[in-house]
Amino acid sequence: ATGPLVDAFNRRITYLRLSVTDRCDLRCSYCMPEQMGFLPRKDVLSLEELHRLALGFMDRGIRKIRITGGEPLVRRDVVELIHALGRRIGNGLDELTLTTNGTQLAHHADALAVAGVRRVNVSLDTRDPVLFAQITRRDRLADVLEGIAAARAAGLQVKINTVALRGLNEGELPDMIAWAHGQGHDMTLIEVMPLGVVESDRVDHYLPLTAVRDSLDRRWTLTSSAHRTGGPARYVDIAETGGRLGFITPLTNNFCDGCNRIRVTTTGQLYACLGGAEMVDLRDALRSDNPDARLAEALDQAMRIKPEKHHFRIDGRGAAPAQPRHMSVTGG
Ligand code: GTP
Ligand code: 5AD
Ligand code: SF4
Repeated sequence: ATGPLVDAFNRRITYLRLSVTDRCDLRCSYCMPEQMGFLPRKDVLSLEELHRLALGFMDRGIRKIRITGGEPLVRRDVVELIHALGRRIGNGLDELTLTTNGTQLAHHADALAVAGVRRVNVSLDTRDPVLFAQITRRDRLADVLEGIAAARAAGLQVKINTVALRGLNEGELPDMIAWAHGQGHDMTLIEVMPLGVVESDRVDHYLPLTAVRDSLDRRWTLTSSAHRTGGPARYVDIAETGGRLGFITPLTNNFCDGCNRIRVTTTGQLYACLGGAEMVDLRDALRSDNPDARLAEALDQAMRIKPEKHHFRIDGRGAAPAQPRHMSVTGG
């Protein structure tokens, strides 16, 4: 079939999250175990396959593409892909962007801006070098800060993504917000999700954003904002900092009724929901004799299997992860 992607709950799917690698140069303790096994390269989609796939999605009404991973910038040819897709901005694509940990952003910021990227999301959970090394298990804070500065200098808008972690960055959140807003960046706080097995128990560091919001409300003047990016964050304006703060609350406030997203893994599996096991294999379709028809069929199938909502829960010590897949494979 052709035509727009609409799921069984009448949600229009216009936002594709495309993971280009499962590898990462950090090891955030809530995301990956230290000894993470990576996918063999032959299983990973080639640049040509990614490009073809993205064009196929655009034919079906995808208007926003976010490149994710793993860390997308550890893949050598990713800037080439972004360049190729960037030609469609304003001609099918409203937004082409990426989510990055920032370690290599300083090397690529100018090229990204030239390719048509306007905005990047950079993950940063703390500005304390010791805590940074503890959370990410790598001593790379200076590179990330340099990356953020380079992005700004290249004219990119930056959104800082911060996972709120009890007992880790909890006390630092107001400082982080003030810093981000002072630099002119938007910021979003994220609740940690049970995706994939890691060494620690995520429950230990789970911080409900309802509590964070209450405490920020006592400190500052928060008013809900109409600002939307097409992602799951709900924003407030903070009068005192003059900036925007988003809340991504999969645990305390489900946002699935307005879902407009699907994601494709590094190996070409389309997951209709971050939290679900349902998927269709696009790599098979791409590598078949009749890729266009097979791809169209697979996308129709994806619309039939997309669940109404996720069922993430973090509600007991030692709770088994609801979803055995790591975020680094699915791409968020
Ligand atoms: P914007 O375009 O700035 O709105 O980006 P975004 O929030 O859509 O993307 P980003 O990659 O910055 O993701 C921020 C967090 O939101 C990550 O932890 C993602 O895993 C999470 N996220 C994004 N989409 C979904 C979703 O559909 N469901 C859930 N549960 N989490 C999501
Ligand atoms: N739960 C919530 N956020 C996560 N991220 C990685 N793993 C998880 C998880 N299990 C965050 C990263 C990054 C964003 C894309 O997702 O820190 O900011
Ligand atoms: Fe959409 Fe699933 Fe994310 Fe909910 S959890 S917003 S249904 S992808």
